[in-house]
Parts: sequence; structure tokens; C-alpha cells
Amino acid sequence: MLLHFILCLFTFPSTMALGTLQGSNSSAMNNIAKPGCQSHCGNITVPYPFGIGKDTGCSLYVWFHLNCNTSFDPPKLFLASDVEIYNISDSELRIFTSVDYRCYDQYGNVTNYYDSNRNGLYAFTLSGKNKFTVIGCDDLAVINGSGNGCYGSCTESSNVTAGECSGNGCCQTSITNGLHGYSVRFLTLQSHIDVLTINDCGYAFLGEENTFRFGGASDLSHSTDLIRRVESSVLVVLDWEIGQGYSCSEATECKENSECHGAADGGGYHCRCNQGYEGNPYLDQGCQGQFLV
Ligand SMILES: *[C@@H]1O[C@H](CO)[C@@H](O)[C@H](O)[C@H]1NC(C)=O
Ligand SMILES: *[C@@H]1O[C@H](CO)[C@@H](O)[C@H](O)[C@H]1NC(C)=O
Ligand SMILES: *[C@@H]1O[C@H](CO)[C@@H](O)[C@H](O)[C@H]1NC(C)=O
Ligand SMILES: *[C@@H]1O[C@H](CO)[C@@H](O)[C@H](O)[C@H]1NC(C)=O
Ligand SMILES: *[C@@H]1O[C@H](CO)[C@@H](O)[C@H](O)[C@H]1NC(C)=O
Ligand SMILES: *[C@@H]1O[C@H](CO)[C@@H](O)[C@H](O)[C@H]1NC(C)=O
Repeated sequence: MLLHFILCLFTFPSTMALGTLQGSNSSAMNNIAKPGCQSHCGNITVPYPFGIGKDTGCSLYVWFHLNCNTSFDPPKLFLASDVEIYNISDSELRIFTSVDYRCYDQYGNVTNYYDSNRNGLYAFTLSGKNKFTVIGCDDLAVINGSGNGCYGSCTESSNVTAGECSGNGCCQTSITNGLHGYSVRFLTLQSHIDVLTINDCGYAFLGEENTFRFGGASDLSHSTDLIRRVESSVLVVLDWEIGQGYSCSEATECKENSECHGAADGGGYHCRCNQGYEGNPYLDQGCQGQFLV
């Protein structure tokens, strides 16, 4: 009888909570976003210190406010106007990559090109999980200002191999730590004149290691297929942190039952719930104890 009474006490509020959360099952669902703010954009979870909307007070800093565009179905989440977000975790942000390219004609003139300038990612750092990939038979591409780059070469008679990206039609290189954005610079030796029949364009993009597989000869000659495939499947990993330029001793953002952790690159920090607690350490009552049965 007494046990039944206690069970009722506990089940009543939790069914009420289930009702208002439309089937979401965890108490942690209550503390993703700041109270009164949107916690999702389509199926993407947006945890504070990120927040949706300009001047809504939903994010910690202006550069953590995101734009959820509902004219897409499902809605898409953007960092700047054209940087689409895939997901957000407690220290990383994944964005869709963008392929830069240069196409040439038989005179070696550029006929078509695209430059995605992603230099404005001030609060974010390009993760060391990314690689810079160049595809082409006569293309040296570099991340502007960093010295990171490589040369993809091949000759008309040569045989590029699908799945291999070590210089023959495809090359890949690591990037310098600490970059806050990037733009790409292209160079060629012969302006593709000698290789035009098998490859008229050079391509370059950044993306998480091991998420791109070189398709071989077809990737050298089918630009729209390659670009579509890469831009829908390759993600760039950004590290995020708060308090850039400050350290944990100056941190005021970590709420109860959480602790400050300095970022690996020295600038900024993260908050993390203490052991035995879960939730969002940047919100009041964000870290909730885990009750063991
Ligand atoms: C949402 O996306 C559409 C289609 O690209 C665009 O026309 C519109 O300006 C965007 N809305 C906002 C608020 O960015
Ligand atoms: C969101 O849904 C789309 C399909 O609608 C899927 O491709 C994507 O991986 C999902 N994203 C996340 C973060 O679950
Ligand atoms: C984000 O996406 C990556 C790559 O698919 C995945 O490994 C990671 O677990 C995802 N994180 C979150 C918080 O959804
Ligand atoms: C292409 O290159 C040739 C030779 O350099 C030059 O004479 C011509 O004006 C260029 N054509 C265009 C459209 O730029
Ligand atoms: C590369 O950097 C130089 C110097 O910072 C700048 O003048 C140039 O416009 C940049 N190029 C691209 C493609 O961003
Ligand atoms: C092309 O690759 C195959 C398999 O690696 C090899 O047997 C053949 O000799 C190569 N042909 C040329 C022209 O390099």
C-alpha cells in the first residue's frame, strides 16, 4: 500500500512531463536549450551555448547564434548564411564541406570556377581530424596562408586507382593546428592543356579523415557527380569552446555540478558535468544527478 503510494507520487509528474515533451523520454531533454528557446532545428539538436535566432538571447555569444531555415524540408541549420551544420556535440561542430574548383579549356584559360571563402569562422578552430584533399591531373591547391597543400598529377596514359589518394589524380594532406577558417588557392603547371581529355577541372576540399573515397578516373571527368557526392557526404569538423583567450580560473559559465576544462589548444575552455551528473553544464540546474534504482 505504502509502496503503491510512493510509486504514484513518482509516476504522476513523469507522465505529465512526457505529455509536454511529446514522447521524449529523458529528463535531460528539459535542459538542452535556454528556457523558452528552440532546442531543435529539424532533427538537429541545438544545445546552449548555441541558440537559434538573432537577438533572442538564446545563445551565449553572438557568434553562437544559428539560423534555422524552415523553408527547407526538413529545416536546415546554418552557422553563417551559407555554412550548413550537420550536428553539434559538446566540443565539436560538423559542417558540410564545400568543393572549390577550377576548370580549363584547350587554351589553358579558366572557363569555370568556384571559391568558397570560409575565412569568417572566428570562434571555431579547424580540427586536426580534417584532411585537405585535391583531385586533378595538374593541380596544386593550398589552403591560403598556411602552406598546407599537395599536387595531384597524372598523364593521359596513366591509370589512376579508385580508393587511392597518394598523388596519382588525388592527393591528401594534414592541416596546421589552430586555423580559424580557410580559403583555397589553385596553381597548375600546364593549365591542364596536356591532360584535358581525361581531366578538365581541379577540385579541392577539406573534410574529416577517411570519409572520402576517391572514385578513380570517373571522378576526374564527371565534375557535377563528384561535387554533389562530396558536398552531401563529407563533413568538416570544427572545435568549439567558450571564453576564447581566457582560462578556467576566470570562467563564470560553468553551472552547479559541473567543472571547467581548459581547451587543448590553450585558448578557451569547456564546462563538463561532474561524474554522476548528466545534462547541459552551461544552464542553471543543467547537470542532473543520475538516480540509480
Ligand atoms: C532560407 O532559405 C531560402 C532558400 O534558400 C532563402 O531564400 C531565404 O532567404 C532563407 N531564409 C533566411 C531567413 O535565411
Ligand atoms: C537528419 O535527417 C536526415 C534525413 O532527413 C539525415 O540524413 C541526417 O543524417 C539526420 N541528421 C542527424 C544529425 O541525425
Ligand atoms: C555527429 O556526427 C558524427 C559523424 O556522423 C558522429 O560521429 C557523432 O556522434 C555525431 N554527434 C552527435 C552529437 O550527434
Ligand atoms: C584564352 O587564351 C588565349 C591565349 O592566351 C587568349 O588569346 C584569349 O583571349 C583567351 N580567351 C579568353 C576568353 O580569355
Ligand atoms: C590569399 O591570401 C592573400 C593574402 O592574405 C590574399 O591577398 C588573397 O586574396 C587570398 N586568396 C584567396 C583565394 O582567398
Ligand atoms: C593500369 O593498372 C593496372 C592494374 O594496376 C596495371 O596492370 C596496368 O599495367 C596499368 N596500365 C598502365 C598503362 O599504367
